[in-house]
Order: sequence, then structure tokens, then C-alpha cells
Amino acid sequence: MHVVHHIAELRQALAAGPRPAFVPTMGNLHEGHLALVRQAKASGLPVVASIFVNRLQFAPHEDFDRYPRTLPRDSELLASAGCDFVFAPDEREMYPTPQAYKVAPPAALADILEGHFRPGFFTGVCTVVMKLFQIVQPGLAVFGKKDYQQLRVIEGMVRDFAMPITVVGGETVRADDGLALSSRNGYLGTDERQQATALAVQLRAVADAVRADPARTAAAEQAAMDALRARGWAPDYVAVRQRSDLLAATAPDTPCVVVAAARLGNTRLIDNLEF
Ligand code: PAF
Repeated sequence: MHVVHHIAELRQALAAGPRPAFVPTMGNLHEGHLALVRQAKASGLPVVASIFVNRLQFAPHEDFDRYPRTLPRDSELLASAGCDFVFAPDEREMYPTPQAYKVAPPAALADILEGHFRPGFFTGVCTVVMKLFQIVQPGLAVFGKKDYQQLRVIEGMVRDFAMPITVVGGETVRADDGLALSSRNGYLGTDERQQATALAVQLRAVADAVRADPARTAAAEQAAMDALRARGWAPDYVAVRQRSDLLAATAPDTPCVVVAAARLGNTRLIDNLEF
């Protein structure tokens, strides 16, 4: 596996081969990321993973500065998962001058849910992913379903710009107790880590309630928020949406997903469940 820090070097290394499979990450990797790399590897294409903590998608009060940078460990993990190239640029390589051109996704998809609570987040994500796509020129890109709205936003960007990239979602990997793996789980204290399972429990409760009686959707969302609050969480949202565009479901048998974001102490976690 080659670890590459410069755009020109990566382009040269990839020039002779087919368009690779690409897994963009911000590092501090866990089994969820490695599952995405294995999924990319199964395509038979060379696999590129990027590691770049993207300033553009963090608000000033968020955790950009304390986001763990763990490149040596991440590189070992990526090698063990079969990754061929790690692209790990520094900030000057990605943003030699302040990024003046941005990719703004449509408000109907990007200003709801995560975008409502993190204004500008998806513009930051789309801008860096567009730039990474220009650098890596992948034929396939794998994004975790844990960031469900991000996956939908990227799919839309690729479609709207007619980019020759197949975007696929990777299933969320969970700890034995149900907590979705996340780089931010490392922020949780011991008690918080135990309490953190409540988020997945509430998603399941909402999905079961809505499947039994779709008319109870609003009540089920509210009950989950109340249950989380009773356990010391500060929920931003628990919402049942249709999977295709994350708007409210329009027909009873529409494939749905319940998405949630909530803060436990200083840690903000997101999760979702398709049903
Ligand atoms: O999901 C992430 O880790 C990031 O949002 C991404 C896609 C790597 C862009 O910075």
C-alpha cells in the first residue's frame, strides 16, 4: 500500500490503471470504515482511501481542532483491509488558498435534518468530495449509510453533474450492544458509552411503532425524543422519512428510514435505521 500526500503524486500513480474505487474518510478509522474499504476492494478495482479532516464542513464551535489525527494507525488498518493507496493531503495541499468555489447542494435535501442543525455542513462536504473526485477520478465511490443524508446528497451531486461515478452505500457496522461505530464514539466517557446504546434502541422502537401503525409516526418520533431526554440526552431530531429524498413519506408502503441526531454530554451522535 502506498501512502501519498500530494495530488500530483497520486495522479501519476493512478494514471496507468483503471478508474479506482474510492473511500473518502476523515481518518480515526474503525471497523465501519474498513468494511467500506473491503466493499470497494470487492469491485476488483484498485482502492484509494483518503484521509483528510475537512475544515469546510465544521462550524467554528465544532470539533475540528480536537478531531483525532491518527495517520500511522489508520494506514496500518487500511493496509490490512486491502487498500492500495492512501491519499493523506495536508491542509495546504487541499486548500493552498481559501477555497473560493463551493458546491451548494439543494436546500430541499441539504438544509433539513443535519443541514438544519449544522448550517453549511453539506456545502463543506460537497465541496471537498467534488475536489477529491477531481483528484482521484474514481469509477466507484463507497459512502457509509451511517451518514444517510450525506449519501443522498452525494448521490444527487454526482447525478446533477453527470459525473461518471457509481456511488454505493455501505451498511452501518455496530458494536455488539447496537451502538453504530463512529469516530466520535471515542469522545464518550465510560458512563456515556453505556448510555449511548439508547439511540439505536429508540430508532428500533420508532420503526416498530410506525410499521405497526403509520398514523402514529409523529407520536413515535416524539416518544423517542422524550425517552432520550429522560436518559440525559439532548436530541436534535428523531424523524421518519422516505429513503429516496428524506422528505415525509407520501404513501403507507414507501421504504422509510428513521434518522436521529442527539447530544450526550459534549458528544453529538447520529444514527438511522431503514425499515
Ligand atoms: O463522512 C466523512 O467522513 C466526511 O464527511 C467525508 C465524506 C470524508 C468528507 O469530508
